Amino acid sequence: MSALTVRLTDDQVAHFHEYGFVSVDAITTPEELAWMTQVYDRLFAEKAGREEGNQFDLGGADQEGDVEVLPQILGPSRYAPELAQSLYRANAVEIARQLLGPEANYAGEHAILKPARFGAATPWHQDEAYWDPTLDYRSISIWMPLGDATVENGCLWFVPGSHRWEVYPHHSINNDPRVHGLEVDPHPDLDWSRAVPCPLPAGGATIHPSRTFHYAGPNTSDEPRRAYILGCATPAKKRDVPRDFYWNTAKHTPRQDRARGHQARQATKAESSR
Ligand code: NI
Repeated sequence: MSALTVRLTDDQVAHFHEYGFVSVDAITTPEELAWMTQVYDRLFAEKAGREEGNQFDLGGADQEGDVEVLPQILGPSRYAPELAQSLYRANAVEIARQLLGPEANYAGEHAILKPARFGAATPWHQDEAYWDPTLDYRSISIWMPLGDATVENGCLWFVPGSHRWEVYPHHSINNDPRVHGLEVDPHPDLDWSRAVPCPLPAGGATIHPSRTFHYAGPNTSDEPRRAYILGCATPAKKRDVPRDFYWNTAKHTPRQDRARGHQARQATKAESSR
């Protein structure tokens, strides 16, 4: 890992707090990006984490043999530990400390691939809608494309100011409980005509907190759109007022079944080796 290379300007910090997103032109080096792209493609090609339920189709029913429209890996550094040492991660944590304070730290990561020509849209959602509703979060997602992100290949779009809103009700994409991915329910408050696209150069990043509404279009280009997303947060606190994110408990995904199967096999292995 080389020395830290990013610090947000005062204007960028102010933009983040006012609008609920900000972008930076470079959060890593071209050299790291080239290396990371090889690791990234290998993990998807090898189906790393699929058995454990950590690789799955975020946008589809994820049946065995289906063409995946939005393949995702949760925790890619579990399968390529060298990713944990990246300059990208070090810079992300530094940015999080600038925005959230010194207690902020790395909190997780995922990779979302939009395959060339048919990669599906990531519908409008708030990241917090996926999480534990009993907790309060101070958290950011740092979204880095490994190649240039454009409107044509699925860059992020944001609704300015939506980071101040509550979490709206969501549902599984297509109302199919087999689909992990969420979409916000239609609501009279929600108007996407104010949304702004955030195209980025390869190795740039957008940064948004847990409630900012965002979306990414389908990939209509001839190249895959590779995104590598890091989460950073301060320790979550128990909420005084409980919430019910019933859209998560309503899910029954093949991914959950694979995770349970894997855990059962691990337990049997542990039992028989005693
Ligand atoms: Ni998101």
